[in-house]
Amino acid sequence: MSVRRLAEVQPADFAFTQDNLQWAEGQIAKYPEGRQASAVIPLLWRAQEQHGGWLPEPAIRRIAEMLGMPTIRVMEVATFYTMFNLKPVGEHFVQLCGTTPCALRGANALKDVCKKHIGDQNHVTADGKLSWLEVECLGACSNAPMVQINFDYYEDLTPETFEALLEDLRAGRPVKTGSQTGRSCSAPFGGDTSLTDETLYDGSVVGSWKSRFSDEHGKGDATVTETAGRPEQNSRPEATVAKSGKDAEGQPSDKAKSAPAVTEDTASGSTTVGTSPKTPASPGAAPSEKGA
Ligand code: FES
Repeated sequence: MSVRRLAEVQPADFAFTQDNLQWAEGQIAKYPEGRQASAVIPLLWRAQEQHGGWLPEPAIRRIAEMLGMPTIRVMEVATFYTMFNLKPVGEHFVQLCGTTPCALRGANALKDVCKKHIGDQNHVTADGKLSWLEVECLGACSNAPMVQINFDYYEDLTPETFEALLEDLRAGRPVKTGSQTGRSCSAPFGGDTSLTDETLYDGSVVGSWKSRFSDEHGKGDATVTETAGRPEQNSRPEATVAKSGKDAEGQPSDKAKSAPAVTEDTASGSTTVGTSPKTPASPGAAPSEKGA
């Protein structure tokens, strides 16, 4: 974390432009009487934007007057949040994340690149193009290491890609924001590892699920019809009881005790009930035994 001090060289005064003044008055009017201090952050942010990316001390004083706040209260806000720059910054202001996930993925090497191409933190290059600052987690840890430059994130950086990025920015060449390895958002390295079944997607998630459901539903009916003549393939417990006359523990079921004998002809798939006491239902009865 950097030391938060006001710049040694300050402008003599600060005034919002007419447009910004009108905008600021609109922000202040959003809050009830006596609560105008709630507009302090938006006003500081707009003042920073107007002043080329940093917040001069006269702007802090001016905003305190507008909001009826002691200057020190506005100063406390401005010096607390790193989103407010208290010293001049480069045209391309690099905020480099140095928190643990980024540090583990190579943020220290990126700091060396900053030192080589820009200099120390808070130093603006002679051409006014670049300056940098180490900040805490910027919430893109899964794409570490990363930096924010002005309003864009640059992720999955290596010293080489970061160096090339700084050179392109300095030269005014177009650059690519986001991941520098080409992965989409935070998708896994090496491609997707889940939800890879393309049949799940047909451009319309609901449509694809509906179509898949009706396919499987139709196939389910077909399966029932196809296996109806082969009861030995039916694995439902109740079917086993009906077929074997025993329950799940292998004991004769109540139904089996009183039920008439059931004879199956697995060759034909037909079933006969209570007509042949000589051939009681037997789970092990094979067609050859019955035929003998
Ligand atoms: S630790 Fe660097 S973005 Fe979170």
